[in-house]
Amino acid sequence: MKRFAALLAVALFGCVALSAQQFDITPAPAMVEVEDADGRVTMFDASREFKLYIAVECEDHERLTDAAYATGLDLKVVKKSAKRDYLNIVIDPSVEHGEGYILECAEGGINIKAATAAGVYYGLQSLRQLVEAHPNREWLKCRIEDYPRFEYRGVLIDISRHFRSVDFLKRQIDMMARMKMNRLHLHLTDAAGWRLEIESYPRLTSYAAWRTPHDWKGWWYGDRKFVEEGTEGASGGYLTKAEARELVAYAADRYITIIPEIEMPGHSDEVLAAYPELKCTHAPERQGDLCIGKEATFEMMQKILDEVIEIFPSEYIHIGGDEAGKGDWKLCEDCQRRMHEEGLESVDELQSYMIHRMEEYLNARGRQIIGWDEILEGGLAPNATVMSWRGEEGGLMAAEAGHKVVMSPHGYCYIDAPQDAPYSQPESIGGYLPLEKVYSYDPAPATMSEEVSKYILGVQANLWAEFIVEDSHYEHMLWPRAIAIAEIGWSQPKEKEFAHFRSRAVGIVDRMIEEGYSPFDLKNEIGNRPESLEDVEHLALGKSVTYLEPSRYYAPKYAAAWDATLTDGKRGTWTYADERWQGFLGRGGVDVIIDMGEVTDIHSISADFMQICGPGVFMPCLVEIAVSEDGETYTKIADIEYEVVLDELPSFKSFGWEGSTKARYIRYKAHRSKYTGFLFVDEIVVR
Ligand code: ACM
Ligand code: ZN
Repeated sequence: MKRFAALLAVALFGCVALSAQQFDITPAPAMVEVEDADGRVTMFDASREFKLYIAVECEDHERLTDAAYATGLDLKVVKKSAKRDYLNIVIDPSVEHGEGYILECAEGGINIKAATAAGVYYGLQSLRQLVEAHPNREWLKCRIEDYPRFEYRGVLIDISRHFRSVDFLKRQIDMMARMKMNRLHLHLTDAAGWRLEIESYPRLTSYAAWRTPHDWKGWWYGDRKFVEEGTEGASGGYLTKAEARELVAYAADRYITIIPEIEMPGHSDEVLAAYPELKCTHAPERQGDLCIGKEATFEMMQKILDEVIEIFPSEYIHIGGDEAGKGDWKLCEDCQRRMHEEGLESVDELQSYMIHRMEEYLNARGRQIIGWDEILEGGLAPNATVMSWRGEEGGLMAAEAGHKVVMSPHGYCYIDAPQDAPYSQPESIGGYLPLEKVYSYDPAPATMSEEVSKYILGVQANLWAEFIVEDSHYEHMLWPRAIAIAEIGWSQPKEKEFAHFRSRAVGIVDRMIEEGYSPFDLKNEIGNRPESLEDVEHLALGKSVTYLEPSRYYAPKYAAAWDATLTDGKRGTWTYADERWQGFLGRGGVDVIIDMGEVTDIHSISADFMQICGPGVFMPCLVEIAVSEDGETYTKIADIEYEVVLDELPSFKSFGWEGSTKARYIRYKAHRSKYTGFLFVDEIVVR
C-alpha cells in the first residue's frame, strides 16, 4: 500500500521534485527528487545489510557511528568505501550550508554528504525517519538536498519552577535532535528555585533549591519560603557541576548547544532569600530584584558567571533581564546613589547599566549575552542578542538597530498555554495555542525587509513550568508543539503546509507514545470552540449597540471589534485574546442596549461568558435582560443568578432567556461577581 501511495503521489505530481512535505521527513526537507536520470521512479530496498563507511574525524566519528546505528538499518562497519550495499558518510566542504546535507538512496546504496559533522547528523536523522516510516524497509529511490532556514532552532526548558532530572532532560534532547533542533535554553534560576551548583555561593543550592510544598502552586500561594537541604519533606534539587557537564556533553553529541540562563536583575527572589544582604532594603518583605547599587551584587553575579562559563561552552549566556519590578530601586539608598553617580535618569537605565556591565564581563571572556526583550529598555548593550517574547516588536527594534534576535513571541511560542479545548487540558497559563497556531508562525515573513530579516537568528519554543509538576505533563505540553517550532526553524517557507505537517506529526506522536514518551495525542484533538468556526446568523446581527455607563469602558486591549463586537456574528474561540471576546474590567459589568431598528418578534436572547481564574476572568453573578418597544419603558424578562466558583479549569456558559415577546430595544446587563477581574462576552444572540 505504501508503495502504491508513494508512486501515486509521484504520478499526480508528475514532475522531478516530489513535494518534500509528503516524504515522511520532519522538518520537511528543502528538496526531494525521486526520478533517476532516465526519468524513472523506482523503489529503494533498505532491507539488506549495509556496509557503513564513515570518512569523518575522530570525535565526530563516534557520534556519527552511534547516529547511524540509531537509524535502525542493518549495518556493518567497514574500513573503506564499498562498491555496493554501502552507507557512505563523507564530509564534503563543497556542500552548501553548514548544517545542510545531501542524502541519496540509489541503486548501490546510501550516500550522505555534508560540509560538517552536524550536517551528516541531520542526514542520518532523515534516514532514520525514512526507516521508521517504512517498516517494510522500502521507499522511493531519492536524492534529498536539505538545509535549515534558521541557524537557531531552540526550546526553553524551565527547571526552576519544578526541578527535572538529568534523564528527563536527556530524553527531551534526544527528541529535539531527531527534529534537527540545535539549542536547549535551560532556565536554571528563578524565584521558585536555583538549580545549578555554584561553589562560591553554596546557599543557592543548599537552601534556595528546596521547599516543602512540592508543587509550585502550593508554594507560590503559600509562604514562598525555602528550607535547608535535607529537611524532612523537602522537595526540589539542582544540577551538580558534574551532572551539568554530563548534560552538556550529551547534548553536544547530538549537535545541541545548551544555553544556560542566569536571571538578573529580576526574577531573583531565591537569590535574595539565600543572600538577603543583596536586597535593596532591609524590609522583611520578599524582594525579587537584585540591588544594583551594591557592588557585592556584581561580585556575586560575576563569580557565578565564572563558574557557569566553565561548565557551559555555549557562546551565548542568557542573562534574563525580564520583568524586574524596579520599585525597590527607587527606595534604595544604594541604587539611588548609583543612579546619581552614573548619571542614570531612570530605573530602566539602572537595569541597563547592570546588563551593560555583565555584557562587558562576558565579552572579555569570549562570550556573548542574550536577554529577554526588556533589555532594550534604558538602552541595549552594544553586542547583546535579544530574545523577543512580549511580541515581536522588541525583536524588530533590536534587529533594526543591528542586533541579532531570537523570536519567541508568546502568542505563538509560549507552549505553556493549553493546546486543545481548555476543559480537556490540564491547568495552564494563557490562551488556546493549538499546533496549527504555533505552526502558522513565521519569524521572518516575506513582508520583512532583508535589512531586518538578516538579523533573525531563529525561533524558540518556551515551556514555563508553573503548573507542570509531573514529567509526563511536561512532555504533553512540549510535544508535538516543539515539532512545529522545529519545522518553522528548519523548513523553507514554500514547504510549509499545515495539513501535511499535521499528518506527519500524528505519525511522530504515535511513535513517541510507543517509545514511552507522553506527548499530547494529536489524534484525539478536539479543536477550536465549535461556536467560533462559523459566523452566527441571528436577528441582531449588525444592529447598533449602545454601551451604558460604566460599561462603556471595555478594556482597549480587549476591545475586539469595538462597539460592533456584540452583534458582529463572530463567536469567541477558546481564548479571550482572539479579538472576538470583549473584555470588561473595573467597576462596571456589561450593560448595553441593542436597537433592533423596529419592533420585532423575539424568542430567545443569550450571550456567552468564559471563566479562567488564573488570569482573573470570571463569570457574572447576575444577568438581567429587559425589553422595550419605545426605548423609554423597559420590562424585565429575565433575572439569572449564578454562583461563581473558582475552578481550576476554564469554563464557558450561556446566560439567556427563552420565551415570546415583541420589542425594538433589548437591554442586556451582566453584573460582575465579588472576584476582581474581567468579564468576557462575545456576542448577544437574538432569535
Ligand atoms: C518571560 O516570559 N518573562 C520571559
Ligand atoms: Zn538597591
